[in-house]
Order: sequence, then C-alpha cells, then structure tokens
Amino acid sequence: MTVKTSLVDPFGRTVDYLRLSVTDRCNLRCVYCMAEDMTFLPRAQLLTLEELRDTAAAFVDLGVRKIRLTGGEPLIRRDILKLVEVVASLPGLDELTMTSNGVLLPKMAQPLKDAGLARLNISIDSLRAERFKSLTRIGGLAQVLAGIRAAADAGFAKVKLNAVILAGFNDDEVLDLARFAVDRGLDISFIEEMPLGEISSHSRNSTQVSSAQIRQQLASEFTLLDSAESTGGPSRYLQVAHSPSKIGFISPMTNNFCDTCNRVRLTAQGRLLLCLGNEHSVDLRAVLRRYPGDIERLKRHIIFAIEKKPERHYFDPDRTDIVRFMNMTGG
Ligand code: 5AD
Ligand code: SF4
Repeated sequence: MTVKTSLVDPFGRTVDYLRLSVTDRCNLRCVYCMAEDMTFLPRAQLLTLEELRDTAAAFVDLGVRKIRLTGGEPLIRRDILKLVEVVASLPGLDELTMTSNGVLLPKMAQPLKDAGLARLNISIDSLRAERFKSLTRIGGLAQVLAGIRAAADAGFAKVKLNAVILAGFNDDEVLDLARFAVDRGLDISFIEEMPLGEISSHSRNSTQVSSAQIRQQLASEFTLLDSAESTGGPSRYLQVAHSPSKIGFISPMTNNFCDTCNRVRLTAQGRLLLCLGNEHSVDLRAVLRRYPGDIERLKRHIIFAIEKKPERHYFDPDRTDIVRFMNMTGG
C-alpha cells in the first residue's frame, strides 16, 4: 500500500513539526516542571536509538519538515550525538533543533553543531546565581552561562533563550533577561507557566504572569515592533528596534493558538501525544517493538493517530487535569 505524504488532521491543520523527547531524565529539577522526588522511567522503556531514528524517518516520509529533540534534558542521553547525526541527515528534513537547559553545552555545543544540529533553544529563568539554584533545585548558573557562550561560539545561526516567568519567583527579572539577550544579539521567549503535573513547591494559580504583563514591563525599556515572521511555532515574535534580537511570547494560558497548531510530540517511551493539553495519544512503541524496522506500518499508525488530534487545549491554573509532567511530555 502506498501511503499519503502529508499529515492533515480533522480540523484541516497540517502537521509538519515533531517534538521528539529522547529521555524523561534531567540534571535539573525546575520547580514548575518536576516534583522534588520524581521517579524516572526504567531504561528499557525508553525508545532505543534505532527506534527513534525509524520514527523520525516515518514522520519525515509523511511530510514532517522540522524536528526538535527535547527531554527531560536531551544531552543526558549517551548516544545523543549519534542520534543528531542520523536524524539530521534524513532526506526531506529541513531543520533539526534542540531544547536544552545548557548545563552540558560547554562540552557539547561544538560536537552538536558538527553532527548537524541547526539551532538551539536554551532555557534560563534567572540570572541570579542563588535564585537560579532555588528555581532549578540543583543548578549552577555559571555552567549555563558558559553553555550559552559555547553555543554562540560554535556558530549556531540563532541561539534562542526561553524563560518561564513565575510571579514571586522571577517576575522582577524580565528586563534583566531581555537585556541579557539583546546585549548578545540573541532572541528570547517568555513562556507562561502551564498546569502540567501536580507540584508541591507552589500553587500555580498564584504564580501566573500573562504575556501581556510581561510585554508591558518590556515596553519601559524596549521598542518592540510587530514582526511578520512566523517560526511555525506558537511563539509570537516582536522585533527589538535597533537590534538583531527578537522577543517572543508563548502564551498557552492567555492566548489560545490551537487553530494554527502544526505539531505533535513523541514521549520518551514512544507515546505519540496529539496535544500538549490533552491525553489523546497512540502507543507507537508497541508497533516499533512488534514490527521492528517496518516503517510503512509505522506510517499507517501515525496517520491513524493524527485523526485523533484534539481541536484545542483548555488550561486552568486552578486545576491540574493533566498529571503528566513537562519532562514526560517533551518540552
Ligand atoms: N509550563 C511552561 N513551561 C514549562 N517548561 C517546563 N515545564 C513547564 C510548565 N509547566 C519549559 C522549560 C523549557 C521548555 C522545554 O519547557 O522551562 O524552557
Ligand atoms: Fe529539566 Fe527543563 Fe524540566 Fe528544568 S524545565 S527540570 S531543565 S526538563
């Protein structure tokens, strides 16, 4: 049987972007992302390098043009460079990117570039060492700053920073974070916290900061110009006047962007999630393990899964309907 070459869901949206989580583990424990005492998946449950490659190949055959490797922290995986190499060289893929917390980038940035990674997003929520440590529970700010430098030095076209802003934790650093990015010619996106996973460090309804509030803070120092650019993502980007930098806003709580959603996510254990804010999913690992290497069969299961893509998400900071943590979801 020949299989069609593009994925269109029941609402007419074309899926051409896959976020591939390569591990649920992380070397940090950000308070909004994880509970303090997380249990991680036994290794045998994670997709192998070959399974990840076959899945990526099936999606690219089906018209996916962009893949982002995520986690947990993707650089924790031992065979990550090999994976980058095989996925980056899939014919038909336009761009392979990664989201990382930066901790391992001082050593890994150049090898990642050499292996074919096109772009990097690095998460950084605070520029104050003590606060960084308490937000991540264990992280060292100096390592991440060195990681950002290493990424820029390795010659990645555009390094983008991501910051989740929480009231009472880091909402007084919006301007500092923006300045840090603009001074270095980097882009930065500010992200609204989503109620994914039950946490005990804070109640999520008391930490919400809207993109509109952040934009207002930024307006005191930066002139932000509407930019026509779409990155194929949910981020709305504004150009910083007199600078190469852009500032983005990812607003899952205040601005529903579902009508233009072009993506799906594969969890580290091979569950294809059709939407960040819903539990609809299809177990691709079962197919991969039962019929190893049968990419045509995998493609049929993917096409079937896309039929289940929900129309939109409904997030409510007062309720954690989605018990899946972000590290399980694939940031
Ligand atoms: N809400 C919003 N963003 C989150 N991230 C992790 N958990 C959450 C959450 N609950 C972010 C990380 C990283 C990206 C991969 O996802 O900070 O920038
Ligand atoms: Fe790790 Fe990213 Fe989650 Fe922080 S937000 S604990 S860096 S996966």
